[in-house]
Amino acid sequence: MPSTKVLFVCLGNICRSPLAEAAFRKAAGECGLEVEVDSAGTADYHVGEPPDPRSVDEARQQGIDISGYRGRQLHADDFHEFDFIIGMDRSNMANIARVDPGDGRARVAMLLDIVPGQEGREVADPYYGGAEGFARTWADVTAAAEALVDRFR
Ligand code: 4NP
Repeated sequence: MPSTKVLFVCLGNICRSPLAEAAFRKAAGECGLEVEVDSAGTADYHVGEPPDPRSVDEARQQGIDISGYRGRQLHADDFHEFDFIIGMDRSNMANIARVDPGDGRARVAMLLDIVPGQEGREVADPYYGGAEGFARTWADVTAAAEALVDRFR
């Protein structure tokens, strides 16, 4: 069976979506689920850059090295390439909809809508805060990664 392809999307692709990518890779790997995972930003601010150092630190505390990830921008082809495109907040969802060519195969969802009891909640943007915001992001993306793995299994 071909592996499921999941793309996590935020604004800059340096804070939230790289952590979502890492959490989902980890959760899928732990239960032997074959997936292809990537992340992207709707903006082009950080194309080619590594994740924010605070995201790198948070992932490292969780035993994961994301320093090799590089930012890229969401593009229309992604809607043909991926099975799922998952945004972090309502602003991301509006930006994702603007890129959607309309004839792709991807199902588009907001991350915490996948988590029972968390529906409608946004993953807060930690960019302008401190390290504690990145720990909150990690908690959110981990809960969603586990819910996604349960769904795909
Ligand atoms: P992200 O956070 O969307 O979670 O990667 C942000 C990163 C960069 C900016 C805003 C949010 N920025 O304005 O550069």
